[in-house]
Order: sequence, then C-alpha cells, then structure tokens
Amino acid sequence: MKITSHFPAANGKISIAPSILSADLFRLGEEVRSMEMAGADWLHVDIMDGHFVPNLSFGPAVVRSLKGKTTLPLDVHLMVEKPSQFLEPFAQAGADLLTVHLEAQDDLKSTLNRIHQLGLKAGVSIKPDTDPQLLAPVLSETDLVLIMCVYPGFGGQSFLPGSPALIERTRTLINASGRSIWLEVDGGINAQTTPLVTQAGADALVAGNAIFSAADPVSALNQIRQASLHR
Ligand code: DX5
Ligand code: ZN
Repeated sequence: MKITSHFPAANGKISIAPSILSADLFRLGEEVRSMEMAGADWLHVDIMDGHFVPNLSFGPAVVRSLKGKTTLPLDVHLMVEKPSQFLEPFAQAGADLLTVHLEAQDDLKSTLNRIHQLGLKAGVSIKPDTDPQLLAPVLSETDLVLIMCVYPGFGGQSFLPGSPALIERTRTLINASGRSIWLEVDGGINAQTTPLVTQAGADALVAGNAIFSAADPVSALNQIRQASLHR
C-alpha cells in the first residue's frame, strides 16, 4: 500500500518539532494537543532498539496512536541497528517521515529508496563524531538531514559545543547539492542554544526536555521560536 506523506518540503522557515520522549506519557494526548495549539510544526518520535543506542523507547503502536489524532506531521527518528526491518511497520502506523542513521547496519541507499517507495519522506541522521562529508553521496535521495548535537539515546543531555561547526559544514553540503533538504538538529536544544544552531544553518529544531520538562511547555516552545528568529 502506497501512503501519502503529509510532510512539507523545506521552505526556508524554521520548523519546531517537540520530542515526545520527554512528554508525560500518561497525558500524551493533552501534551500533543497543547503543542499543536502553541504552533509546533511537527511531532518528533524517537524509536530506540537497545542496540544502536543503550535505551528503549517506542514502537509502531505509539505512532499508530498519534496518527489521525493530531494534524502535526510525524517525524520518526529510527535509532535502530537494522532500520530496513521496520520501514513497513512504521509507514503503516502513520509516520510521515522516517529518518535512519548513516551509522546503522543497512545499505543506506536502498533503505532511502524503500522509504520513498512507501510514499514517505526520508531523512538521514549522523552522530556527533561522524563526518558530515559522508552524507554527500546520499543527498540526492534525502529530504532531511538530522545532525545529533548529543550522543543519541537519552533526552535531557547537554548540547555538545562542537555542534555548530558540524551544522555549518552540513549546510554548505546541502546548499551545494542544489536540493531543498531540511537541516534538522536534535539534542540539547533550548532557547539558549537555538541561536547557535539557526545561525549555523539549521532550519528544523527538535526539543524534548526544554519543552516538556518546563513548568509551562507552551511558553518554552514560544521562547525557542523567538530565539530562532535571531538568524
Ligand atoms: C535523543 C533523541 C532526542 C531527544 C532530544 O537521542 O534523539 O530526540 O528527545 O531530547 P532533548 O531535547 O531533551 O535533548
Ligand atoms: Zn530524536
């Protein structure tokens, strides 16, 4: 079954994707609704397999529970060793974009092609120690690049200071490709680190802890939005 992705093309505006990893799962519906009302652009869903990263999180059932209940496109980040095993289940559950890791144990090009065949947008993520230049051969098949600003696996970690330089290098590569590709950043994003990443060229921001652990998540989202305007 071919699915129609509701994921928008890169448009020069900043998109903010709250990560439900830090949400109160007892109140997931309310948390998502308040992010929608506050003007969030996408919802970021972290999938962890206990191998690629030393943690476990959600599976397709959680994506299925969100689909149709929210208007926000579902940005699904697969931190798994064998993403090829999970493309169909997440597509059928309702993901709009699937991001896989360049460091995963699968053939990257065929994984990206398969995501597109399923009718979804395709992203590629790199960990903080991976050279962004390795992305160059796959940019022609990529809709979004996700730069990790922490070592993946857990929410609430501190932004790694080397991240802006990686983002700048990635922005140069994307611009040279001549394609419209989102440059998303993930890990340690808050109102203080946002100007560092937007000035370096990021146009999509994932934030978990900074939003959902705040006393007022809506105002935390607004503060990130304000900070992102200092480009
Ligand atoms: C970490 C995940 C992130 C996480 C970010 O491995 O990929 O998406 O939710 O969380 P914060 O914003 O808390 O660093
Ligand atoms: Zn993530």
